[in-house]
Amino acid sequence: MDVIRTKAALRARVAQWQAAGEAVALTPTMGAVHEGHLSLVRLGLERADRCVATIFVNPRQFGPNEDFTTYPRDEEGDLAKFRSAGCDAVYIPDPGQMYGTDYKTEVTVTDISDVMEGASRPGFFTGVATVVSKLLIQSLPDIAIFGEKDFQQLAVIRTMARDLDLPTEILGAPTVREADGLALSSRNAYLTPREREIAPSLHRAMIAAAESVRTGAAPHVAAEQAKRDVLAAGFQQVAYIDIRSQDTFAPAEALSENLRIFAAATLGSCRLIDNIAV
Ligand code: PAJ
Repeated sequence: MDVIRTKAALRARVAQWQAAGEAVALTPTMGAVHEGHLSLVRLGLERADRCVATIFVNPRQFGPNEDFTTYPRDEEGDLAKFRSAGCDAVYIPDPGQMYGTDYKTEVTVTDISDVMEGASRPGFFTGVATVVSKLLIQSLPDIAIFGEKDFQQLAVIRTMARDLDLPTEILGAPTVREADGLALSSRNAYLTPREREIAPSLHRAMIAAAESVRTGAAPHVAAEQAKRDVLAAGFQQVAYIDIRSQDTFAPAEALSENLRIFAAATLGSCRLIDNIAV
């Protein structure tokens, strides 16, 4: 497995494979690799001949009071996990490869970036769309894979790639969960043992809300009940629990096709997000 640290070497390696007729998948991450990330690599290797993972904790998508400095970092451990999943290369950009001192350009996807995660975390999706456009332009892969765990992020990236005419197909991958339903996340490392016991109640409350919408409850009533359930289970704060169209992110008024329930809530020092289909 190659470890690549410059954008020139990254582009050359991908182009070399493509010139030999091999399709290349890219799986961007911020490291602290877990089975959710590795599932993207495995899907990449099913859909393409080569898979390149990236590790970059992107400062531009963290707010001033967020966890940029404390975000878990473990390059050696991450490389071992990517190697065992069959990755062909990992791109870990050296300082200066992403944002030089005179960096000035941002990518913003309007409308769908304004609700939920975008409303709770100002600038977050601009940071994500900017870094992902750069990673896609630096590597020019055939496909790039992102998790449905971050469903709104996936939609923002799909829209960005379409609108900027990037030559890469964007693929979504299903959410990988622990046996008790908790969605895998690098930030789960922040949970204390007690909080780890409480954490799956978010997914349970979402399943209950989805079920009550399917059996006739109004979406906003089901979402309010889920918020009460999550707070009663021991979460400190619910940023949102919303039932929306998974295509337009318009709030759901009644049961219809393609509804999803989206949630973000704080447990101790950990902000958990999740989503499931209704
Ligand atoms: P990160 O949180 O490291 O996630 C990297 C990729 O793994 C994302 O596409 C995310 O949706 C996916 N992922 C995370 N947990 C998952 C799970 N439990 N099941 C399936 N996929 C999962 O998301 C980011 O990094 C960044 O915003 C990034 C896109 C890399 C841009 O900086």
